[in-house]
Amino acid sequence: MSATPFAEPSRILITGARGQIGRALVRLLERDPDFNVVSCSRRQLDITNRKQIADKLAEVLPDYVVNCAGFNRVDPAENDPQQAYALNAQGVAELAALCGELSIPLLHLSSDYVFDGHYASGYNESDDAAPLGIYGDSKWQGEEHIRRLLPRHIILRVSWIFSESGNNFLLRTLEQARHERSIQAVDDRRGCPTSADDVARVLQAILKQLANGAEAWGTYHYCGAEVTTRYGFSEAILAAARQYEELAVTELVPVSSRDMPEAAERPASSVLKCSKLLNTFGIRQRPWRSELQRLVRELYAVQLLEEAQSRRVGAGDADQVAKAQ
Ligand SMILES: NC(=O)c1ccc[n+]([C@@H]2O[C@H](COP(=O)([O-])OP(=O)(O)OC[C@H]3O[C@@H](n4cnc5c(N)ncnc54)[C@H](OP(=O)(O)O)[C@@H]3O)[C@@H](O)[C@H]2O)c1
Repeated sequence: MSATPFAEPSRILITGARGQIGRALVRLLERDPDFNVVSCSRRQLDITNRKQIADKLAEVLPDYVVNCAGFNRVDPAENDPQQAYALNAQGVAELAALCGELSIPLLHLSSDYVFDGHYASGYNESDDAAPLGIYGDSKWQGEEHIRRLLPRHIILRVSWIFSESGNNFLLRTLEQARHERSIQAVDDRRGCPTSADDVARVLQAILKQLANGAEAWGTYHYCGAEVTTRYGFSEAILAAARQYEELAVTELVPVSSRDMPEAAERPASSVLKCSKLLNTFGIRQRPWRSELQRLVRELYAVQLLEEAQSRRVGAGDADQVAKAQ
């Protein structure tokens, strides 16, 4: 049921709508009568293009903008800093400035990579930023531009996003596990996996409260409940997938991050403390394990249905599909 039954739906402009979080948010808000969604892929709205932003804002006149666009590739950012800053810092600054001119609040996604990762127990919103690389620094600069240019903003820092599409750890691990006998996973980096659908749920809840008059602008943290390592996350992914198929992998090897050749240094602790979000908006962390189970079940349901359709299903296939659904 609608939270504000007699109010007009809020008009939400979503940028980066084809990304992991963008897709999840569009899917969720399009089903919600409280919202009227205008979603823009990079082709429809390039946030590094000032004129395109100005034209789109004037055309749509949204009540809120949610920026899901980002240069998100941590290692390539080290080799191509210009692209990372152009999008994560300057593009975000343009968006914030133009939203400011029209008094449109902006909800923006940032990252645990603004921290150096030395606090094993996790980070509060007020802890000092100290990015280790270009990606984290570009995200931090984007945040600072927003704070300077647009008081009515929400910056939501999230971590370790997984979903059914795009470049993410869940899909990379599943791919490896289906083709390789032995796979490695880092066991000295701690964090909280977070499903894109779960972030969408959080953004939806925040938007509803803002639309109902909450004046709670500022920076917040959100991640799935339960701290783990990349190794622990890999174990959970393999266990979930083995419910539906026999995997090629027989060995999961824990390794130190020192043994993984990567261009960018990564925070040892990506743990975000989320009590400010709970105390301000009443939004609780949801366990990533149940989100993982749901997503893996859905991935196999889609895959088995596709396989079954292409082979015109035997009774055995139908049983497998039923199990995954
Ligand atoms: N993924 C994570 O683990 C993670 C962790 C912490 C924070 N975050 C933050 O969360 C946000 C969303 O992440 P995500 O995982 O959903 O990212 P994603 O899947 O990489 O999606 C980003 C989207 O931005 C679009 N984009 C790229 N350049 C653009 C431009 N100039 N103008 C407009 N759109 C552009 C991309 O379009 P194309 O597909 O056409 O390139 C893509 O659809 C980002 O700000 C990211 O920094 C992500």
